[in-house]
Amino acid sequence: MFVRTATPEDWPAIWPFLHRIVAAGETYTYPRDLGEDRARDIWMLEPPSRTVVATDADGTVLGSAKMNPNHMGPGAHIASASFMVAPEHAGRGVGRALGEHVLEWARSEGYRGMQFNAVVESNTRAVALWRSLGFEVVGTVPEAFDHPAKGFVGLHIMHRYL
Ligand SMILES: CC(C)(COP(=O)(O)OP(=O)(O)OC[C@H]1O[C@@H](n2cnc3c(N)ncnc32)[C@H](O)[C@@H]1OP(=O)(O)O)[C@@H](O)C(=O)NCCC(=O)NCCS
Repeated sequence: MFVRTATPEDWPAIWPFLHRIVAAGETYTYPRDLGEDRARDIWMLEPPSRTVVATDADGTVLGSAKMNPNHMGPGAHIASASFMVAPEHAGRGVGRALGEHVLEWARSEGYRGMQFNAVVESNTRAVALWRSLGFEVVGTVPEAFDHPAKGFVGLHIMHRYL
């Protein structure tokens, strides 16, 4: 598996799984009917932020991550990131590889910590993955996410020093 900076040409490979994940409404605080143009603006970031894709040896895009300062000005030394792995390629280490890559990027860019702002409490796979990469839940906003099947569940704020 390879992780590299995404180019505009990668978008047609990213959009189908991003669309599927957002439309499911279980893991992101994006509108479930998010349109393609708005999604591209949200996901495909310019420097100093960054978007990457994970590919297999033949170049197939398996997943993507975006990374950025979490706040501006005096809050700009904490990074944030978001992750989407194509459901058909889940469970084979793509999310972990993207997470490790993002942490390495944030260290090399001089960030002091990384924060995830809204990890859905019921997204147990993601919560377990981020914990295994050194993140802790620093707080949970109760009933902040309206899950299509589980109803109101919490949103974790997760953090780790770099
Ligand atoms: C969450 C997500 C990024 C994980 O990516 P992934 O490629 O499936 O994850 P990995 O294969 O790297 O597995 C990472 C960990 O997830 C857990 N995991 C993997 N498969 C699992 C399964 N079927 N059920 C439960 N947990 C599982 C394990 O803890 C695994 O750790 P391990 O490496 O010790 O086995 C991916 O499922 C995804 O994009 N989900 C939808 C969007 C989303 O939730 N994004 C994150 C928002 S915070």
